[in-house]
Formats: sequence, structure tokens, C-alpha cells
Amino acid sequence: MTIIEDAPARTRAEDETGSPARTAAASPADRRREVGAPEGAAPEIVEWVARMAALTEPARIHWCDGSRAERDAMLRELVDAGTLLRLNAELRPYSFLARSDPADVARVESRTFVCSEQEEDAGPTNNWVAPAEMRETLTGLFRGSMHGRTLYVVPFSMGPLDSPLARRGVQLTDSPYVVVSMGTMTRMGAEALARITPGSDWVPCVHSVGAPLEPGQADVPWPCNDTKYITHFPESREIWSFGSAYGGNAILAKKAFALRIASAIAKDEGWLAEHMLLLKVTNPEGRVFHVAAAFPSACGKTNFAMLKPSIPGWQVETIGDDIAWLAPDEEGRLRAINPEAGFFGVAPGTGRGTNATAIDTLWGNTIFTNVALDDEGDVWWEGLTDTPPAHLVDWQGNDWTPDAGRPAAHPNSRFTVAADQCPIISDDWQDPRGVVIDAIIFGGRRAGNVPLVAEARDWDHGVFLGATIASERTAAAEGTVGELRRDPFAMLPFCGYNMADHWDHWLSVGRTLRGAGRPPRIFQVNWFRKGADGRFLWPGFGENARVLEWILARVEGGAPAQASPLGWLPAEGAIDHADAGVSDEDWAELFALDVDAHLAEADDAERFFAQFGDRLPRALQHQLDDLRSRLRTEF
Ligand code: OXD
Ligand code: MN
Repeated sequence: MTIIEDAPARTRAEDETGSPARTAAASPADRRREVGAPEGAAPEIVEWVARMAALTEPARIHWCDGSRAERDAMLRELVDAGTLLRLNAELRPYSFLARSDPADVARVESRTFVCSEQEEDAGPTNNWVAPAEMRETLTGLFRGSMHGRTLYVVPFSMGPLDSPLARRGVQLTDSPYVVVSMGTMTRMGAEALARITPGSDWVPCVHSVGAPLEPGQADVPWPCNDTKYITHFPESREIWSFGSAYGGNAILAKKAFALRIASAIAKDEGWLAEHMLLLKVTNPEGRVFHVAAAFPSACGKTNFAMLKPSIPGWQVETIGDDIAWLAPDEEGRLRAINPEAGFFGVAPGTGRGTNATAIDTLWGNTIFTNVALDDEGDVWWEGLTDTPPAHLVDWQGNDWTPDAGRPAAHPNSRFTVAADQCPIISDDWQDPRGVVIDAIIFGGRRAGNVPLVAEARDWDHGVFLGATIASERTAAAEGTVGELRRDPFAMLPFCGYNMADHWDHWLSVGRTLRGAGRPPRIFQVNWFRKGADGRFLWPGFGENARVLEWILARVEGGAPAQASPLGWLPAEGAIDHADAGVSDEDWAELFALDVDAHLAEADDAERFFAQFGDRLPRALQHQLDDLRSRLRTEF
């Protein structure tokens, strides 16, 4: 741990937000001393830290080594500052509760920007500002923004430290809450720093809560700023975030790096950075499969990632719950790693009945944010137990009783916990080569139209299914809950470049996957279809294993299927729905096909595609035309 008390004076008046690559060379040894950098830190990092310190003017600089002693000290500091509350150590060892500012509770997509040189390269689904203009704005915002605070230098690796698929970054932040979160969510500290050798690639991430403390000014438990900018420069591979300390706005390794910037890197390098969970599945005969699945935010991804199969003999193990990096290998297979080291999961709705594995994962060593506190000093949220406790303190620190008429936990309240604390974490979750993917699943939350499961006709049709995902909005981001939004590849808020180019990239990656056999098969699922009476038609959770069983039997070439305009559907009797407690009528409704509704949906997809103009890949327009003609002729 290195702390220096006085930050260097500002040295450069201009180009203060310039990327490290554009930094003028200075005397490396002097610079290292000036900012208290550890021996061996790459000169580019040292130079950049000096420049950022000159801009933000922190009271001190701390280079994080990622040690347990460092984490202990920071957690103690956070408790003393009132940011964290220590939970009852008998019930929840080494665990803490944070209550955020009520105005800082979710990702703010309206304040998230992709600043490519050309607006068309960000595409119509991203907010765009010209890089030069954004740099000017950021310079103004970050100047002096860390007064009175510590600037933490947080080196991290996304992916196992020595994996050829791993990528590295360094986050600067003035939020110790963010530092401890990064410590859980990434491989953070000295070992990551040591792997950023001079001249190697790394992503600079600058973060400030935007709450400078002037001499004598008292701090607040959750400093933040009403002005928020979550800003990405995909060409120079930089991230700048101002004003928020919450989740993906601030833990920049996650959505900002591992999705937005990584997707831009991946496009240039021929791989994919996706909003996908990863599973290892073993069938009763002992055959092993790996599955990647994309679902829009808060669609039960963590539950699916920790699935407890209802059918005997099947075993599911977790590799990742949110992000996957997938790359073709030399043999033409698609391999994947989970670049993260922890779970930042949505708490409400997680209970023994819905996800017992998550509950077992959270036994201790967990930071909870915006959940409720019970009278024993433990946590509670809606869905943790069927009956709420008679008294709680809610996420805003107010007394709460079951008749309060408002939730005790914020709907987007979270747990932050290390992945290796999950009792079903797979033994290959840190395999540096990644695991070979056998099947890809696209899901969404759809009350109507989309069947329980369908298999794509081929890779291009699978890309079309991914490109046309729509889902009912949830609380993970701002917006009206329940409203339907198109969320292609579940990447709408996370693609760091033009979404149409992302589809084109998927099409071309598919063409490289010709080696051993064929590319992974692609499926679409919908656990959320409702009957005319508003009831869910499918029980979900552990019963989803029946769908997985059919999917993997298809991968092996052994499951009966029937053709439909939407793709291949399970043949009569191929999934034992009665055993899942689903009546024949409900089963039929789960696959009911209303041609007019699908034609209307095709029109909606066409309108959605139209905004991409001539960047829409021809293959996707053909898929849409083919779908329409199948709907018209086959029925
Ligand atoms: C998340 C999200 O937090 O997708 O994982 O919003
Ligand atoms: Mn997510």
C-alpha cells in the first residue's frame, strides 16, 4: 500500500483529459516518486496518474495492492465514515450494508455516452457527443473534483490473470466504496499491475463522485453529484465517469469496460464481448456442455446462472452470471471466459425458493447496497422470505412495517460477492483458455408471442433472433417498468459501437466457426409467457432444466423437433411438461402462434431496423423477409 499526502501540482494546462498514448514523456523516476507509484509500475500509468492528479487535485494518492490488509483498512474507514454499516457478524460474517443517495440508485442510460469520432459509429441507439466537446466538458467537471479526497489507483485484470483472453485496466476513483467493490468484481491489485508491462494495452478508467471537499467541509455517507456523465471513447479505449457511485456507473470494469469498450476492442480483434451468463451442464450420462445465454437486465439471469435442475441426474454449475468474452480458437470452436471475479446481483426476488444457491453464496463476505436492515442486524429484501419481518429499517434508513405501502428494499438493490463463494462454481470457471461453447441462448421477458423455446434454423437466423430481442422493462435502469423495449443481444445499453455493425460482426464471427463440426447452435427462450388470464404459463426456475435438456439433446442431434415459421420447436412429447406441472392447454398456449401478431411484430422489427439505414446487414433484412414469407405460407 502506498499513500502520499500531497498530490503534485498541475503540470499541463491543456489536453488534460488526453489519453495516455498522447502523454508527453517525462522523467519516469521523478514521476514515480511524485505520485508514490510502486516499483515496476509501467511509466505510462505513472505519467497518466500524475496528469489526472494534476487535474483532479486530490489530497492524497493511494495505489491499491489488493491485499486483505488493505481491504480491511478500507472497510473500517467506510464504516467510520458512515458509508457502510457492519452487519451482525454472527448472522452475516464480514458483511456490510450501504445506503446510497436516493438519487443514485441505478445505471443512468440517459447520461451514458459513446464518444466515437463519427456519430454514425456510435449508432442511433447510443447517446453521442463529439469527443473534443466531451473532453472539454469533462475537463471542467474533473478539475479539482477530488479536493479533500483520496485518489485511489486501482489496477485490475478482466479474466484470469494469465489468460490470453484477459484484458487489463486501471481505474482512478475517489470512492473507497467503489474500490472495495472493484476488489470483489475483478482481479485487482499488485498482480494485475505487474502484468501491465510497458507498451502493453490497458484501458484507463477515470471516475470521480464529483463531490470535492473544501477545508472544514463535512462529508456525507454517499457523496455524488446531480450532474452525471458515464462516458466512453471507443477509439482511444478510455472511460470517464462523473457524479455517481452506483453499480455500472462507477464500477467501471463491469459494463463500461467489459462490455462497451471491450465490445469495440473485440470487433477490431475478431472476438465478442457479450452480456451473457455462462453455465457448465453435465447430463445424467456424464457428458459435459457449456452454454452462453443473453438476457436483458434483471430477467432472472443470476437465477438461471445458478439453476437447480428439477430433473434427476442433471447438474448445472456456474461460470458467470452477467458477462462473457467469446473468441474463436485455432480449431474454429467458440471459447468463452467470464471476465469478472464477482457477482453484482439484484437482491429482490432472490430467496430460498427461487435461488437457494445465491442465498448460500451470500452467507458472509458480502456488501449489500440498498436492501433493508432487520432488528437483528441482518438484511432483508422483498422475496427473501414469504413473510416480511414485523419491523425493518428500509433502504433509506426509515422505520418500515409490512403495511408501509412501499418496498423495504430498493427494487434495484444489490449484493456484491466473490464468484468463488458460490457453492456450485464450476471447476473450469477460471480456465485461462476458456470453455468451448456448445449452445447460445437468447431470452427476454415477454408476456406474449415468443414461445417457451425455439431453435434457430442456422447461425444467421440465430443472429436475427438475437437482433430482435425485446423485453419488458425492469428496475435495473431508469424508465417505465413494464414497457416493452427492443434490446438486441441484451446489449442495447452496452454496445460500444453501432449496433448494426455488432450484428454484422456476429455474422462474420459465425463464418469463422467452421472448424470442429459447426458453430454453436442458437436458441431463443421465454420463461415469462402469460395466459389470457395473466398467469405465468411456465413455472420457470428449476423447471427450466427441462428446456435445457431439450436444447442439449438438440446439440447432440438426438431430440425430436418440428419446423415452425419461428424455427425448430420441441416435437410433441419431447419435453415432459406434465411432470413440470403444466397442463396440456397451457403447454399449447406456450407455443401458440398468432400469425397476425407475428406479422405486426415483424413490422415493428422493420421499423427498429430502419433507424440503422444502410448499416443494417443485408442478411438480417433477408431473415425478416423470409420470416414474413414463412408466416404467410406455412400457415
Ligand atoms: C446489471 C444490468 O446490472 O444488466 O447486470 O443492469
Ligand atoms: Mn447485466
